[in-house]
Amino acid sequence: MMIYNNIPLKKYNTFGLDYMAECMIHIRTEKEATALFNGTVNWKKPFLILGSGSNILFTSDFKGTILYPELKGIKIEKQESDKGNLIASAGAGVNWDDFVEWSVNKGFGGLENLSQIPGKVGATPIQNIGAYGVEVKDQIVKVKTININDGSVRIFSNKECEFSYRNSIFKNSEKGKYLVTRVYYSLTTNPLLNLSYESLKEEVNKLGAETLKNVRQAVINIRRTKLPDPDRIGNAGSFFKNPVVQNYVAINLKNEYPDMPVYKDQEGHMKLASGWLIDRCGWKGKRTGDAGVHEKQALVLVNYGKATGMEIFKLSEEIKRSVYEKFGVELEREVEVVGVI
Ligand code: EPU
Repeated sequence: MMIYNNIPLKKYNTFGLDYMAECMIHIRTEKEATALFNGTVNWKKPFLILGSGSNILFTSDFKGTILYPELKGIKIEKQESDKGNLIASAGAGVNWDDFVEWSVNKGFGGLENLSQIPGKVGATPIQNIGAYGVEVKDQIVKVKTININDGSVRIFSNKECEFSYRNSIFKNSEKGKYLVTRVYYSLTTNPLLNLSYESLKEEVNKLGAETLKNVRQAVINIRRTKLPDPDRIGNAGSFFKNPVVQNYVAINLKNEYPDMPVYKDQEGHMKLASGWLIDRCGWKGKRTGDAGVHEKQALVLVNYGKATGMEIFKLSEEIKRSVYEKFGVELEREVEVVGVI
């Protein structure tokens, strides 16, 4: 376990925001985590569990302790040779895309559509990450955690995680109570590829056969054309969720704006595209100082260098207001805001 005081956060958040944290603890093993929370040391509260900081907007210095899980290791837990089903697990600190790449190279399907999503394994159940017609909840079997109030181990089954679109129990009733240490995923050597997303199918066909590797490559290609690389331009992926609305709201809007994209989500609810709504309000490519709206995807807010978290937050509020005024639809942030606002 490594403990640091007064640490700059710039390299710990993909927006590249320059704030400080009072204390940060790097946790490398489950044993360290248990020892940390067994009550012998009174750590400065609040705690904040930080993965790779790819879904967070700091708006001020953090006056508490940041927990930074570095638990590593990828394992095949169980393989049923006849059906091709298996369970593989990864430590919370494993880079998500390294795990996806490992699974695709082994010929294990299930995660390929989720290629190149920034972040670490430990954040995937919190957020229920998703892309190109797949959500990670469809693959998660269980989540191993440690209770940060007493150091005890608790395993959440898939059902207990209460997953929904970009949401789970870890963002609701159990928020901030558990440190994820390891996540278990169900994979298969007989994958049924999900090419329901039209542009993904087209890109795969350009590459050749419908194979796991081509799906991964196609996802990477599409992401590269639309999403900015956080190493070059600070961002946190989609800043807002896509709004789920009542059927009549979607129908009325579609009548008024026939080219508006409308989807049915897995539960059969109508979902709109925030990127389209924001784009239609004229925000794409707009910039105030160093805070801006990405020029290729209006759902992504960017830091061109020296923006503050507050400037990005204010920009997001203006966007919310204008989308509400034009379409009567309330956008909800996907990114977690941490700090004074
Ligand atoms: N659109 C526009 N203008 C824009 C952006 C989008 O008109 O500036 C339109 C597109 O043409 C398309 C629709 O809006 O018809 C949806 O856009 P896109 O396919 O790019 O996906 P998205 O709904 O904007 C979601 C996820 C992404 C994920 C992609 C691909 C959310 C909040 N975002 O974006 O996830 O990669 O689908 O599946 O659900 C993330 O969560 O950080 C993220 C990047």
